Amino acid sequence: MNKWGKLSLGLLLAGGLLAGCGSNNTDNSAAGNSDSGAAAKKLILGTSADFPPYEFHKMIDGKDTIVGFDIDIAKDIAADMGAELEIKDLPFDSLLNELSSGRVDIVISGLSPTPERAEAVGLSDIYYQAEQAVVVREADKDKFATMDALKGAKLGVQTGSIQEEIAKEIEGAQLTSLGKISEIVLQLQSNRVDASIMEGPVAKSFVKNVDGLVIADAVPEVEDDGYVIGVKKGNDELLEQVNTTLKRLQDEGKIDEYVAAASELAESE
Ligand code: ARG
Repeated sequence: MNKWGKLSLGLLLAGGLLAGCGSNNTDNSAAGNSDSGAAAKKLILGTSADFPPYEFHKMIDGKDTIVGFDIDIAKDIAADMGAELEIKDLPFDSLLNELSSGRVDIVISGLSPTPERAEAVGLSDIYYQAEQAVVVREADKDKFATMDALKGAKLGVQTGSIQEEIAKEIEGAQLTSLGKISEIVLQLQSNRVDASIMEGPVAKSFVKNVDGLVIADAVPEVEDDGYVIGVKKGNDELLEQVNTTLKRLQDEGKIDEYVAAASELAESE
């Protein structure tokens, strides 16, 4: 390369660098504006915080706080977006409507993917998997060793959940559908229902904390195992962001870490 060639290449590079700086500056000032302005980016999470270790209430430093591994994941998504996280605790069966109407941006609530839900909202990749479990009174443990034994039984389930659908398929089962898992636990304790179907990790957390309840040997089979995050239908930008953060958390082994920590927190006093 001759002298002029070198010089012009040098100029080109310098020009490129300068142009790079210029556009960086613009980006920085835009970010600076939104940081200092009133309209800081917000991510509104809808969740039903009755579901330890996924999402639940806990007194932390004397303050009622919503915690759980879903919440940890939400915090990461918000951080990766440079947004502030706001949490709305809502009835489980209202969450997807809140999403569609734009009152929440994202639903993380131990949500199982179903064809109907995939039709109604945008669903992320699967971020965690767990089995279903049957919770019964200690004295009844041997009675409910198989799913067949649940035929004709009184079952407590959460309104709008896949467990409600599972229970509907059980011959002769009498359903009590309630808004909160804690209400189902009360029904079990007071003999008004005989058994409840819930996610394995949730069942474990409740039987550890509530006297007289155990997990039976019966195991419900489900097709849609695994949990996903919901966004409004068509919000592909947010869906992509969610999947990117989930991938990062999987790669870093963070999700298992969050599950372990949240389980411990759910069982502690
Ligand atoms: N996985 C079940 C479903 O999607 C139950 C989820 C309930 N979640 C909650 N936070 N209460 O139907």
